[in-house]
Amino acid sequence: MRTIAFVTQKGGVGKSTLASSVAVAAFEAGERVFVLDLDPQQSLVKWSKTRGEKDVPVVEMKAGKLAKALAQLAKDGVTLCIIDTSGADLPATVAAMEAADLNIVPTRPNAFDLWATEATRKTLRDLGKDYAFLLTQCPPAQQSARVAEGVTALEAMGGLISPLISARVDYQEAARHGLGATEYNPSGYAAEEIRKLWSSVKRRLAKGKAGQGGTPVKKIAKAA
Ligand SMILES: Nc1ncnc2c1ncn2[C@@H]1O[C@H](COP(=O)(O)OP(=O)(O)OP(=O)(O)O)[C@@H](O)[C@H]1O
Ligand SMILES: [Mg+2]
Repeated sequence: MRTIAFVTQKGGVGKSTLASSVAVAAFEAGERVFVLDLDPQQSLVKWSKTRGEKDVPVVEMKAGKLAKALAQLAKDGVTLCIIDTSGADLPATVAAMEAADLNIVPTRPNAFDLWATEATRKTLRDLGKDYAFLLTQCPPAQQSARVAEGVTALEAMGGLISPLISARVDYQEAARHGLGATEYNPSGYAAEEIRKLWSSVKRRLAKGKAGQGGTPVKKIAKAA
């Protein structure tokens, strides 16, 4: 079993939105997915209730029980565990970071988010954990100066995972209906972005720690 965590010491960036859509895309691609919601807000537990299906199970989890729960999930044959965390700097977030094979740090292309990302990176480096940044809620004209600056800053901090995720209504609507972007509008741009993201994450997990530099940014910008 591989474990990924969506982490950043900044609220409202898009962690739960991305975690739910990646969970669904990975399930569609044949993974046995299980989601642990470590955020006291319980966004994904609520998402799952709205979804009403057990195909991508979501349970509330406390940091103290995380290690035991992960061992049990691995025994049960789960192939991918996705952990969603709070935007606050809680001990639970550190527990998730420690448990994950790969930490994904979403950030929007603006100064406040990028500064907050620096703190998250420091924690991850101190823990010696693998991580990748993900630029999200980008304006649809992705070549904008603001996005380019974000790309440069994150590259300097240790690498981005592709693709760039745009701000799209499909993400909001999918979440509202308890769906992933690939289910809400399978032929839409958001679905395409999420399928690409799952492919990148899967490749990165297969590489293990070796890939800490991430994909060269020029390649991501070209593909976007
Ligand atoms: N790519 C996107 N395009 C459009 N809207 C988005 C996108 N990603 C997230 N949002 C919206 O941004 C808001 C915050 O998203 P979300 O709840 O996923 O963030 P979060 O990081 O999990 O927040 P918290 O730290 O509070 O848990 C939501 O209203 C969501 O619909
Ligand atoms: Mg959330």
